[in-house]
Amino acid sequence: MSDIMKKLHEAAEYVRQMIGEEPVSIGMILGSGLGDLANELEDSVAVPYAKIPHFPVSTVPGHAGRLVAGMLGGKRVLVMQGRFHFYEGYGMDTVVFPVQMMRVLGIRNLLVTNAAGCVNTSWQPGDLMLISDHIKLIPDNPLRGINISELGERFFDMSTAYSEKLRAMAREQASKLGVVVREGIYQLFTGPSFETPAEVRFARACGADAVGMSTVPEVIAARHAGMEVLGISCLTNMAAGILDQPLNHEEVLETGERVKSTFSALVKVITAAWPV
Ligand code: HPA
Repeated sequence: MSDIMKKLHEAAEYVRQMIGEEPVSIGMILGSGLGDLANELEDSVAVPYAKIPHFPVSTVPGHAGRLVAGMLGGKRVLVMQGRFHFYEGYGMDTVVFPVQMMRVLGIRNLLVTNAAGCVNTSWQPGDLMLISDHIKLIPDNPLRGINISELGERFFDMSTAYSEKLRAMAREQASKLGVVVREGIYQLFTGPSFETPAEVRFARACGADAVGMSTVPEVIAARHAGMEVLGISCLTNMAAGILDQPLNHEEVLETGERVKSTFSALVKVITAAWPV
């Protein structure tokens, strides 16, 4: 077994001991300001990242840094409350360690959420966007290096990375709930600097509807390992240069705070309707 596989198994074994044997249906990664949902799980058990062997530790304010297992919408879920970002200095392989560990735990479904800047000028801060596809123009890739063949193939398809079926289900649930959801393309920038107005125009010309600093590495790793993925962005601010005002992290957190009850309600019904 490769060194990384040993580490993944050790981490997964520790988590399994802490949360119990009952299988988990959906893994969830909650982004900036959206992590409170983890507090709504029933029969929950929390495992601080710091205690899990080989797990990285989050450094961003607003990211609690723990795994929470419990019931949501009648399904057993495992929530990452806070994630790891490339801009924190981790290699992309480290950023995706938790997703790969989820797969080793037997989890086959992944919900990823993030805060993102809105590039599409027809939309508003506070809108929720189902991610239909992504753009990663930065040269790094979380799977660069020796292939972890226990998880997946060296070369694998990304043409349906964000499950069309799950998006249709999410649209239906949002509409039943009376929540408007957008659908669009997420472009990864490394951060931690926000984009420049020229970069945002470039992203728009590329076809992006949103820009952000996360999610793409995790989705690549999830697809490599054969997981079904649903991605939701909370568009917390208009991206740089669209409005005549500077961007700041407070605005990102404030919008997250404003939409969090809607977001939580949506995630709950999506979880309940998720076919597993
Ligand atoms: N750019 C990148 N990441 C973000 C933004 C943004 O404007 N807002 C929230 N996350």
